Amino acid sequence: MKIIFYSIIILLCLITACKHEPELVQLGGNSTDTTHTVVPVQNDSVCFNTQILPLITASCAQSGCHDAITKEEGLTLNSYNGIMNMGTSDLVKYITTSSSKRMPPPPQPKMDTASINLIKRWIAEGAKNRNCNPSNCDTTNVAYTTHIAPVMNTYCKGCHNTSNLGGGVNLDNYLSTKTNTLTGKMICAITANGCAIMPKGGPSLSSCNIRKIQIWAANNCPQ
Ligand code: HEC
Repeated sequence: MKIIFYSIIILLCLITACKHEPELVQLGGNSTDTTHTVVPVQNDSVCFNTQILPLITASCAQSGCHDAITKEEGLTLNSYNGIMNMGTSDLVKYITTSSSKRMPPPPQPKMDTASINLIKRWIAEGAKNRNCNPSNCDTTNVAYTTHIAPVMNTYCKGCHNTSNLGGGVNLDNYLSTKTNTLTGKMICAITANGCAIMPKGGPSLSSCNIRKIQIWAANNCPQ
C-alpha cells in the first residue's frame, strides 16, 4: 500500500517538474511592502463579476465611502468603469499601503492576502470586464468551510467583521455566521424578503449561492 502511495507522489512530482514556470509579473509598489508579491499570470482565469467586483464593493464601496451616493474623493467603486477610472495601480496601492489612506480604512482590517492576490492576478490578466455564469452549482455536502465561507469572504465580510459590524452582524467566522443564519436574518437579507437587502448596494447573490446558503441553513449549518 505504502509503495503505491509513494510511487504516486513521485510520479506527481515528476509531472509538475516538467511544467513550464508561469510568466511572472511584478506589480508596482515599494520593496518594503511584503504584500506586493509576485503573481503568476494565468490566462483569463479571473471573473470580474463574481470574484472582483463583490470583493471591492464590500471593502471599498461601503456607505459613506466610495458608493454611488457618497463618492468619497470623486471615486465610485461599485462598477467596472468606476474602478477603471481610479486605475488599477491606485487600486493596488490603496488596498496594500500601510498608511492611513488604506482601503478599507483603519481600524478595519486590511483585505486578506488571498483577496489581494486575486485582485493582482485579475490586473495581471489585463483587468478585463470578464463576466462568468457558473453553469454547474455544487450543492453536494454543503458545509461552512467549503461552500459558505468563500461566499461570505467575497460578498459580505468587508461590511460584516469585528471592526465593521454592519447592522450588528458579523460574518467573518463560523459561529456568528451560523447564528445569523439560524435566526433567519441571513436568508431574509439575501432573498430581499423584508429585511435590509444584501449585499448592500450590490447586485444580489447568484441563485446558486442563495441555494447553497438555503441548503446549509436547512441542514443546521454544518462546519
Ligand atoms: C457594502 C456593505 C455591505 C455588504 C457588502 C453587505 N452588507 Fe449586510 N449590512 C450592511 C449594513 C450597513 C447593514 C445594516 C442595515 C442597513 O444599513 O441597511 C447590514 C445588515 C445586514 C443584515 C441584517 C439585516 C436585518 O434586517 O436585520 C444581514 C443578515 C446582512 N447584512 C447580511 C449580509 C450578507 C449575507 C452579505 C453578503 C451576501 C452582506 N450583508 C453584504 C452592509 C453590507
